[in-house]
Parts: sequence; C-alpha cells; structure tokens
Amino acid sequence: MRAFRGEVLSVPQDPATAGPQAIRHFADGLLVVEDGLVVACGLHAEIAERFADVPTEAVAGLIVPGFVDAHVHYPQTERIASHGEQLLEWLDRHIFPAEQAFADRAHADGVAAFFLDELLRNGTTSALVFATVHAQSVDALFEAALTRDMRIVSGKVLMDLGPPGLADTSEQGRAESEELIARWRGRGRLGYAITPRFALTSSDAQLGGAGDLLAAHPDVLMHTHLTENLGEIAAVGKRFSDAVDYLDVYDRFGLVGPRSVFAHCVHMEDRALERMAQAGAGIALCPTSNLFLGSGLFDLAGADRHGVKIGIGTDIGAGTSFSVLNTLGEAYKVCQLRGCSLDPFRALHLATAGGAAMMGIADRVGGLLPGQEADFIVLDPAATPLLARRTAGADLHDRLFALQVLGDDRAIAATYLRGRLAHRRS
Ligand code: GUN
Ligand code: ZN
Repeated sequence: MRAFRGEVLSVPQDPATAGPQAIRHFADGLLVVEDGLVVACGLHAEIAERFADVPTEAVAGLIVPGFVDAHVHYPQTERIASHGEQLLEWLDRHIFPAEQAFADRAHADGVAAFFLDELLRNGTTSALVFATVHAQSVDALFEAALTRDMRIVSGKVLMDLGPPGLADTSEQGRAESEELIARWRGRGRLGYAITPRFALTSSDAQLGGAGDLLAAHPDVLMHTHLTENLGEIAAVGKRFSDAVDYLDVYDRFGLVGPRSVFAHCVHMEDRALERMAQAGAGIALCPTSNLFLGSGLFDLAGADRHGVKIGIGTDIGAGTSFSVLNTLGEAYKVCQLRGCSLDPFRALHLATAGGAAMMGIADRVGGLLPGQEADFIVLDPAATPLLARRTAGADLHDRLFALQVLGDDRAIAATYLRGRLAHRRS
C-alpha cells in the first residue's frame, strides 16, 4: 500500500448533466493505492487515520486522473505538421507513404516506443489507437504497451480499397483481426478495436465482415472516422447513394452500437446524432485536427442536445499536439466559434471519465474512484513563468482553465500507472 497526499480533483460524471456534485475536489486530499488500485480517495483530515501506517508521499501540484486519448494514430507520429492539404489529399501525399513503412517490424517497434513515451510525457495513460493495415503494427504497439503497463486499445486497420502497398483483402483483414484478437485477449490492460479506416477505403464485403467481427466478439470496440471533411462526405454520398447519410452506411453493416467510436463527426445532421445517441455510440472530438486540416468546427451543443457520448482525441498526425491539455484549450476555442462555452471541469471530465465511458473502461479508469486502477498525473499550475503568474492566488476553476489554455507537456510534473511512477518531468 502507498498513499499520496496533495490536492486531488476528478470529475467522474458529466457536470453538464449531473451538475456540480460531479466534481470531486479535495484541497488537502489523500489518494491511497493498493496493488495498483485506488483503495480510498478523500479529504486527508477524514481518512488519514485509517491509513496511518501507510507510507505517504507528499505531492506538490494538482492530482487528476490520467488522460484518455480517445482517437490517435501512432503510425502518423513522424508526419505531424505536414503542410498544405485537406483530408483526402493529405492522406495520399503524407500519410499513406508514411504508413507503408510499417511493413518493417523494426520501424513499427521504434515508432511505437517513442509514441507511448510521448503519451506518458503528456499525461495520457489510456488511448484508443489506430495502427496500420499491417497486423504486426498492432503487435509492435501492444508489446510496447505491455512493457509499460499502459491501457491501450488498438486494432489492425481494415482497408481493402486502400492504395497499392497498403491494401488488404476482405478475407485477409478478417482472418488477421481474428488472429490478433485471439493472440492479445486478456493480456495486460490491452483491448482490441475492429478498425475499418473509413467507408471509402473498404469494400461492402469488408464493412460487412467488420460488422460480423463486432457481433462475434462482445469484448471488442469498433473504431473509425465519420463526417470529417466535405470532400470525403461527397465521395461517400456518391458511392453509397441509397444510404440516408454517412452514419447510415456504417449502420447498414452493423457497425453502429454501444461499442462504436467515431472520430470527428464535424458535419452531422440531427437524424444521425439522434441515431448515435439511441445506439449508445460515441464521438471522439478532435479539435486540433479539425482546425489543422480545415475540416470544420465541431458542434458540441448539437451533440449534447441529443445526449451523444463524447471523448477527446488528439488525432496525431492530423492533430497538432500530443497534449490533451492543449487539445482542451483548442476545444474551448472551437466551442467559442460555435457560440458555446466549454466549462473546464466538463473538459476534464470529457478527457478522462467521458472518454473512458465511450471506450467501455469507465469501471477501470478515469475517476480515481475506489476499485479503479490508480492511473493519475500531477499537474503543475506554475509550470511556466506565465502560468505561475496567471494562477498565483487563483481558484480551482481558473487554475484548471489556465492549464488547459496555456499548458502542455511542461505542465505534466509526473505520470503514474497503477500507482507506479511512469514518468517524471526532468
Ligand atoms: N480518415 C481516414 N483516414 C484518416 C486519417 O488517417 N486521419 C484522419 N484525420 N482522417 C482519416
Ligand atoms: Zn483519425
């Protein structure tokens, strides 16, 4: 058993629906961990007596749950900040060539190690990750995640209509997905996601096969892209002319349900949002990516009107930062442009327990609740001279908001996985 004494904040419920009692804040708190799990989390003055014999570490900074990055591409790490194009041209020019290099296992191992270390440096302890079409790109990521004890959900990308050198076949995609599920099931804190890249890169046969896989494996997720870019949407409309809308394309193949995560959803009509809410499917909101590729401005108020589940994605390499703090600052600005104001406590919820709920792991992580895995980070509100000035004497709301607008990896003083130090800022 170990304990950590300091200021503790978590937002296990969505304050937009649950109200202010969703916020758990202990100005002088104690977080007690046994065998990697949270045993207790509360006011030091109220619970310390029960844990008087437990070695206790004093923590300077704000303890919050580790971030959940609900949509990110590890093979695109080295192509971040690639200039000039919107989605479809950007994929052809920058991304597909980069992903071809993952046919080489040693390359995949090297990028996977760098990527996971970068997540930890940025305070991200769980993530839903795109690999490439190569099955071994998933092996590389899962092996590296197992070594680090991270909670990573990923899957081989299905793309039988992909460009030469980056296309599987419907049969191969299905067989390799089955093999990966069997190989990795139950190991460490890993999970599998059936991952059709998007409607345009899979045949009808492959999309149907993905639906069959999802139905056959109740413990896996489905992870894809939806209504990101107007050119993409027009191409989908042309190919699937009898579908009601883009979401309906996935729906017809059995891909819309409570284990489905759709990245972006920038251009959604009410019908599709209503159907997503009814199905229990979730949206990974990726503001830095949507700005970088000129995709559009996500309508959070619209999604809220229908009660759709939301998480936060960095979407590296279209996204421009590994930092979930920075991503929340950009989400705030996107909401401002849409005429709504994202509350910093709600933002923290979306980036932790909200994303975890969407990924079906809210019982394991995201709220620092007793019984959950003790994945937490220490935020430093004085990480830079400007942050120190802005947050001196500020209340919790202001400190949290300033961290989201001004913070990045520099504000992550430490990252703990199951109560063990995984990264400390140098
Ligand atoms: N849609 C299909 N593939 C991708 C991808 O790699 N990145 C983004 N942002 N959108 C996509
Ligand atoms: Zn993406």
